[in-house]
Amino acid sequence: MPTCLIDPTPTARPVHAIPAAAFETWRAAQSPAIQAWLETAGFAGSGLHGGETILLPDFAGETIPAGGAAPAGGAAPAGGALYIIGGNEDRGGPWAWAGLSQGLNTGAYYIATKLSSEDAHNAALGFALADYRYDRYLKDRDHNAPSSAPSGSASLVWPEGCDRGAVRGAHGATVLVRDLINTPASDLGPAELATIAHDLAEASQAEYRDVVGVDLIRADFPAIYAVGRGAEESRAPRLIEFTWGRTDAPRVTLVGKGVTFDSGGLNIKSTSGMKLMKKDMGGAAHALGLASMIMAAQLDVRLRVIIAAVENSVSGTAMRPQDVIATRKGISVEIGNTDAEGRVILADALTLASEDQPEIILDFATLTGAARVALGTEIPALFSNDNTLAKAILRAGRRTADPLWQLPLHRPYQKQIKGKIADLRNDTDGPYGGAITAALFLQAFVGEGISWAHMDLMGWNLSSIPGKPEGGEAMAIRAVFSALEDRFVT
Ligand code: BES
Ligand code: MN
Ligand code: ZN
Repeated sequence: MPTCLIDPTPTARPVHAIPAAAFETWRAAQSPAIQAWLETAGFAGSGLHGGETILLPDFAGETIPAGGAAPAGGAAPAGGALYIIGGNEDRGGPWAWAGLSQGLNTGAYYIATKLSSEDAHNAALGFALADYRYDRYLKDRDHNAPSSAPSGSASLVWPEGCDRGAVRGAHGATVLVRDLINTPASDLGPAELATIAHDLAEASQAEYRDVVGVDLIRADFPAIYAVGRGAEESRAPRLIEFTWGRTDAPRVTLVGKGVTFDSGGLNIKSTSGMKLMKKDMGGAAHALGLASMIMAAQLDVRLRVIIAAVENSVSGTAMRPQDVIATRKGISVEIGNTDAEGRVILADALTLASEDQPEIILDFATLTGAARVALGTEIPALFSNDNTLAKAILRAGRRTADPLWQLPLHRPYQKQIKGKIADLRNDTDGPYGGAITAALFLQAFVGEGISWAHMDLMGWNLSSIPGKPEGGEAMAIRAVFSALEDRFVT
């Protein structure tokens, strides 16, 4: 797990962590030598925004008064570092701590400032996430550490007062989501996604099953089959499912869009539109990541995870525009655009999810470009038929620095997805409100009386900032987990 977080050691050097606003007071309390050092280094209050680290010298005999306890086993060595909490354009939460490791030397540090348990959690999580690197394909993994960092090997003593299990859960889930999204489609098709889900299920004694290829027709998942049937045999479409937890606990079902590559199908995407489409299984990755958090925390719920896994391919057996396909629910769907494939596979997944009347269904999907036009890449769009659930998720998102924004399930737009010769169509005529019409399409497959939330997310950082490297990213799962904790931990 996060190997950069360590147990207390007497050789750990102190990190004084303060907000920019407290710098001047802190500076004034230091010895003349330290003050001179800060001045020479140009480390001045007016230039600080947060996220800055400055190493402090080991002046003979001098120690900086620590606000918190030194680690057990001896006096703290002199020297250490000062970290200004914040940075990352005020994203807050763990991101306010992600800059810390960058400025440190090799070796162990501990936070000498007294932190609230929330800050301690964020410090540990931010520090650990800044250590993430997707290096699976690099010949020499260690030598490819970014040269801007003086070392890739600073470690931090677990901050006092943080719940290590919670940090491990959030870190493990984020790493799982990132790794899955970052894996190229050549190494992650529906079968490989199933293996990952199976391993995760098995590790927690969950019951696993999957349905592959033409068996999808026999088992009545015609929509998943229709989207995935154009892919080659070894990448056959798949319904992946596992169930975990006490049988009569409240039922929570997670659904994920697992399009392991989205070429657009016969309505093929442009070069730039296709460029990032290995990430189109991001919804499935998020469902698995959130499931791992729920199981690690032993939340008292009956958890069910359902993933529709397909490759949206161009081939002679691929579905065509104007095809009419059947769904598990019995609603016929006219394919207006083969590139609107996510909602089609989710139709069958949401129908299955509804069949045992769970208390909550949460689905995750990289569903529309329109949601990105509306909210940009960092803020998932949240849709829900239950305002209490939506509010709880939004509130938890603010608390965990994992933001979402709600968009409406505006009923009058339903007429835009009415089929010409079938019950529904999977696209619309105009360019407007595409995230909403996609969500309305999904809603048609959610059972009556079930609280449902749909998250349309990017799952990708377009560029790097501390703690959030370019590539796959987990969004909304810390928020949703926190909301579920509020609801199900008594
Ligand atoms: N996977 C895409 C949506 C997407 C694109 C998400 C870019 C994030 C970034 C989805 O399958 C898709 O192609 N949607 C189409 C729907 C349209 C054809 C109705 C879209 O959004 O353009
Ligand atoms: Mn598509
Ligand atoms: Zn897609």
